[in-house]
Amino acid sequence: MNGQSQALLVGTIFWILLSVETRGLISVSVGATALLPCPSSRNDQDLPHVIEWLRQDRPVPVFIKIGKYPPHVNPHFKGRMSLLSNTATLRIQKVKLEDEGWYECRAYYFKHAVESSNGTLVHPSNGTLTKLYVTAPPAFKSTPPPSTVARVRESLLLQCRVVGKPPPDVTWRKDGWLLQNGENGIKINGGKLLVRSLTTSHRGNYECQGRNPQGQVEHTTSVFVQAPPEITVSPKDLDAKEEQDAFFYCKAEGYPADISYSWFFNGLEVGSCPQLRGRFRTFNDGTFEIESVSKEDTGNISCEAANDFGIAPRVTARLVVQC
Ligand SMILES: *[C@@H]1O[C@H](CO)[C@@H](O)[C@H](O)[C@H]1NC(C)=O
Ligand SMILES: *[C@@H]1O[C@H](CO)[C@@H](O)[C@H](O)[C@H]1NC(C)=O
Ligand SMILES: *[C@@H]1O[C@H](CO)[C@@H](O)[C@H](O)[C@H]1NC(C)=O
Repeated sequence: MNGQSQALLVGTIFWILLSVETRGLISVSVGATALLPCPSSRNDQDLPHVIEWLRQDRPVPVFIKIGKYPPHVNPHFKGRMSLLSNTATLRIQKVKLEDEGWYECRAYYFKHAVESSNGTLVHPSNGTLTKLYVTAPPAFKSTPPPSTVARVRESLLLQCRVVGKPPPDVTWRKDGWLLQNGENGIKINGGKLLVRSLTTSHRGNYECQGRNPQGQVEHTTSVFVQAPPEITVSPKDLDAKEEQDAFFYCKAEGYPADISYSWFFNGLEVGSCPQLRGRFRTFNDGTFEIESVSKEDTGNISCEAANDFGIAPRVTARLVVQC
């Protein structure tokens, strides 16, 4: 150490606190790098100096750098906190949600008296305050399954939990259409979608979407509503003449929609009815035909409709054959 630099240190040294209290806001996404400027710093880091960074909720600085010595860093920030080369700007890497808070920068420089008017030691006032605001894009905490099967008149609850900062808005769509609360018996409350009593009209693809300024996420659930068949078209009573062909038609709806029809003559399944052997035909579309009817065919013709999920109650028509 030469005389001059000794004089610099032991002589009329004084602290220059360059900080002015200012407030800034730095917004950074979780995992990214935050740069907190220290307006009170000088560019000339060759001057002997002390840089302190404080967090308002902690009694001791989270970062202290004295001259060219390696900095002291709070364990929470170990390996993530440094100064941007040759400045007092604080760099926080891999930012965590817990890093959010007010940060205060204090920069002190030792200066030779020559450049100042007197040798007063100026005590630091509060430094520069910067708010670090940590944002996070939406992410699902939980989602409903990709598909779900329920029965008519049962209730259905789909729940999407979305986290993020700021808290994401959650919206629901059915088959691409935005759903409003109350629409078609569907209650929507944020990430919750509730149908108290399912009908087949509730079948479809439900998408929940979470969105905040940082981004968006979507999840789709296919909802299948099982319904036993319900007969929508019943066979009609028929007066026929002998040797005519008689036709009956039955139609049912349900889900799954592949419905099979069975026919009965006076309560007996037509296949096991000796009288009709070889004279009837059934069709997948719900048509039943008796060829060349005779007087003995006068009776009750019933239709039954079934899918994998259930059987509709039989409906009956009267066939009357006259000479
Ligand atoms: C030193 O200078 C400051 C401002 O330049 C002044 O307020 C203070 O009174 C001075 N102190 C002495 C001991 O002269
Ligand atoms: C410095 O900050 C403390 C606490 O934040 C406050 O009570 C005090 O008034 C501040 N001092 C100045 C000079 O602004
Ligand atoms: C046909 O149906 C009627 C009315 O449901 C019933 O009274 C009658 O006994 C039935 N006839 C036969 C042969 O099953």
